[in-house]
Amino acid sequence: MFESTTRRRTVEVQDATEFLHGFFEENPRLREDREKRIRFVAEEIERTGTYRHTKRELVWGARAAWRNASKCIGRFYWQSLHVRDRRDLRTGEEIAEQCFEHLRSSWRGGRLRPMITIFAPDTPDGPTARILNDQLVRYAGYEAADGTLIGDGQYLEITRLAESLGWRGSGGRFDVLPLLVETGEGLSAHQLPTDALKEVEIVHPEFSWFSELGLRWHAIPTQADMTLEVGGVHYGAAPFNGWYLSTEIGARNLVDRHRYDVLPEIGRRMRLDMSSERTLWRDRAMIELNRAVLHSYDSQGVTITDHHTESRRFIEFVEREERSGRTCPADWSWIVPPVSGGLTPVYHRYYDEAELCPRFVRDPGRSST
Ligand code: ARG
Repeated sequence: MFESTTRRRTVEVQDATEFLHGFFEENPRLREDREKRIRFVAEEIERTGTYRHTKRELVWGARAAWRNASKCIGRFYWQSLHVRDRRDLRTGEEIAEQCFEHLRSSWRGGRLRPMITIFAPDTPDGPTARILNDQLVRYAGYEAADGTLIGDGQYLEITRLAESLGWRGSGGRFDVLPLLVETGEGLSAHQLPTDALKEVEIVHPEFSWFSELGLRWHAIPTQADMTLEVGGVHYGAAPFNGWYLSTEIGARNLVDRHRYDVLPEIGRRMRLDMSSERTLWRDRAMIELNRAVLHSYDSQGVTITDHHTESRRFIEFVEREERSGRTCPADWSWIVPPVSGGLTPVYHRYYDEAELCPRFVRDPGRSST
């Protein structure tokens, strides 16, 4: 069990103390408790090998982990993260049920709310719970006998794992995978209830044939395979969501060749000259796909942002952080959008590189998306 994850050891008092200093620094109204709290935590670690965060520490820790996520362009909104404290839950059944509740509650009729649900942390004896899917909602991928891919080619492996647990998909392009949860009791698969699943059909503002492509995407990107690390405590199951940036769908998920690879079909339908790369037919098809993604989420009332807006806000966020005297690490290769990079202000500068805590980390052995 928990083969893919490292075993945890006891919490280091120093990690806890550093975290508490940061917490009290930014929460000056609570500062009179500082010395007492630090002593109390050190003693608790001495006795039990770990400690329990207060509600306020947990909320601030989760928000600060978002603020420190150097690959995320959406950090302008870090203070708005809504924290659902579910640290008392640890069975597969309970975790799956609260993940589905997370999706219902962040949906808010389409006005998506950034949210994290935090389950029981790891203990000095080892991991408590892991969600194996990289997000709460993902589409299955199948490889036909002749080698053609059906569905999302990025998820062949987890699809096979779900099948080995008895799950059967329809073999279609957008079969929603069950949630795979690993706990001390073992591995279990949980089908998403229909009321927890929200999707958007992709249509184009002018090309009426676009809907015939049968494309869709899920509304809420909810990362589920990262560990939230706060003051030395590891929350191995802590799914969180914001909202989509259109290029994630229109320049990657539906476009990458090992995933949906839809540009050739769009190019043909647009009657583009596809005889050479130099006609830039791929680029033209991709821009129309991105327009379609934005138009579809907008017209179906689901929050989405675009790379121009989010780049501007990101620069504002960096400047705000610098004014607060904090280091603001960012990874250029993740921040610059995969289309029209040079048209956005994030392209034209470099950023600090640092690994700050609290943070979101992926267990070694897991792939990143
Ligand atoms: N790139 C991932 C996807 O396309 C989502 C990563 C997080 N993105 C976000 N907007 N919160 O599903």
